[in-house]
Amino acid sequence: MTQLATFLKAQTNGQKDPAILHRTFEAEQTLAILRWAVERYFPKITLACSFGAEDVVLFDMISRVNKKVRVFYLDTQLHFKETLETRDRLVERYGITPVAMKPKLTAEQQVEEHGEALWERNPTLCCNLRKVEPLTRALAEQDAWITGIRRQQAPTRANTALVENDEKFGLIKINPLAHWRDDDVWNYIREHDVPYNPLHDRDYPSIGCNTSVCTRPVKPGEDPRSGRWAGFAKTECGLHK
Ligand code: ADX
Repeated sequence: MTQLATFLKAQTNGQKDPAILHRTFEAEQTLAILRWAVERYFPKITLACSFGAEDVVLFDMISRVNKKVRVFYLDTQLHFKETLETRDRLVERYGITPVAMKPKLTAEQQVEEHGEALWERNPTLCCNLRKVEPLTRALAEQDAWITGIRRQQAPTRANTALVENDEKFGLIKINPLAHWRDDDVWNYIREHDVPYNPLHDRDYPSIGCNTSVCTRPVKPGEDPRSGRWAGFAKTECGLHK
């Protein structure tokens, strides 16, 4: 038997339920990718965590691989309070403290320089100032970053690979959940009792900044990303395309 087959046999412990086998294999495959990535790139590897459903899965998994991996979040200073509470519950549960990457301008300075509610007039500039530029700094000294993007999330993400060359930021990008479906994410969260953002239970499948346009609830059956930048043609903020 190959090493992998022996390992999986040990993990499944005689289990016959196909659904449980599927979930076990999927989680083990994903952990194997993370173990490989950390072995290959640590300490120059970092997890980008927005505290959304995918990222809490990765937070749990990275804690199983190596608690010293640097985790960061883009602290736009416009997050929902539920998002920051999720951060605090993760810190308490796993003992890993994500680093806050702050924009150069505070929210107040941005109002002084660009006027009130920039996101309503120019969401792309706002995302650049509050997310993309701080991300560039977060990745500057790194060789690889880990993200929670999945193919199912959006047509713009349909070709997401497990490992990619990120030309925009000039390093390797690892998307261990690229092939996971919505159910896979939620089954993992429930089975491992991972703290998650309660806004997901209130029709927010995708959570960004708490402004009038950046994040809105989505009705059942609607595109899960239609709540992001509602009213604009924009579907990505510039972190991933
Ligand atoms: S976004 O580009 O539309 O904002 P989305 O919310 O789908 O992205 O998140 C996709 C991935 O981008 C997350 O899994 C995470 O890796 C990264 N990401 C998004 N927002 C943040 C954030 N505020 N801090 C750190 N990483 C983030």
